[in-house]
Amino acid sequence: MKSILIIGGAGYIGSHVALSFLEAGYAVTVLDNLSAGRQINLFKEARFIHADLQDRMALQNVLKEPYDGVVHLAALKAAGESMIVPEKYSIQNINGTMNLLEALSNSKTRIIIFSSSAAVYGMPQYLPLDEKHPLNPLNFYGFTKLEIEHFLEWFDQLKEIRYASLRYFNAAGYDPQGRVKGLEQNPANLIPIVMEVATGERQRVDVYGNDYPTPDGTGIRDYIHVTDLAHAHLKAFECVQEQGQSLTVNLGTGKGYSVLEVIEAARTVSNRKIPYTIVDRRPGDPAELYSTSEKANQLLKWQPQFSDLNMLVSSTWKVYEENM
Ligand SMILES: NC(=O)c1ccc[n+]([C@@H]2O[C@H](COP(=O)([O-])OP(=O)(O)OC[C@H]3O[C@@H](n4cnc5c(N)ncnc54)[C@H](O)[C@@H]3O)[C@@H](O)[C@H]2O)c1
Repeated sequence: MKSILIIGGAGYIGSHVALSFLEAGYAVTVLDNLSAGRQINLFKEARFIHADLQDRMALQNVLKEPYDGVVHLAALKAAGESMIVPEKYSIQNINGTMNLLEALSNSKTRIIIFSSSAAVYGMPQYLPLDEKHPLNPLNFYGFTKLEIEHFLEWFDQLKEIRYASLRYFNAAGYDPQGRVKGLEQNPANLIPIVMEVATGERQRVDVYGNDYPTPDGTGIRDYIHVTDLAHAHLKAFECVQEQGQSLTVNLGTGKGYSVLEVIEAARTVSNRKIPYTIVDRRPGDPAELYSTSEKANQLLKWQPQFSDLNMLVSSTWKVYEENM
């Protein structure tokens, strides 16, 4: 039986990744400090280790046991906050990963699947974004992801640790079978914010600008269903293991939805009022941001299956309704 260690596996995306590997018959171990993850996101079929990436000795101990691979999702992810406290993001994201790479270097585990981000690209110079697009992160969070990608390239050369850097676009939705019950903590993405308005937890959605050169004037983003994202981790791991070669791919859908389209879909699905206010554009926000998924399609033989707007919104609403 193949084994996988999922660091950050109690979090929003990590819990879905754990499900994908469990479904594929892997022995799954989740390591998480539960700072943002939730106990309720831990599955009884997986082993749980309560530990922190900052604890070098704990990591060395955990990795004394060989795994077929590690999925590394543990990070701070609020781009705005990263511009205010870059030191916190350096310690958590960069030092945390370095501790992991040190422990991997001293272990028999030789594959790491890393949660990178579309934030490594910065302002799009052309669309759809492909992997050859220049890398100019606009925020410190994106910078930490890019730095980690560089470290992975070096550790591949120097220590033969093979990696997959997966550059996610906007993760959204919940397990269509309703097995992930824990809501993402302090979400900053549009769909959870719209849900909080639908449940009455927030008064309204702030729409940042309606004068962009898009059909309805609001920003367009690429939303990828978290179950599609999770399947891509499994495919990426299998690809790296079979081919013995590292890879970097975008995980997006090839198309985007506007802010108003998302609000309208949520109104239809929830049958609730979703008031919104048009406010000023945010500096640095492009009109449109979406990825090609060609490289991931070819390399991983992966296609998004759940990323249509209705599935994104309805699977999220189901969990919000249950948690109300
Ligand atoms: N959500 C998105 O749209 C998105 C987009 C691009 C990239 N990403 C990346 O994907 C990864 C997962 O994101 P998410 O949305 O699931 O976030 P999340 O906060 O729900 O999950 C992160 C998990 O890591 C754990 N963790 C954090 N620091 C830790 C530490 N020092 N030691 C052990 N565990 C720790 C948290 O408790 C949590 O369970 C992150 O690396 C994030 O940067 C997310």
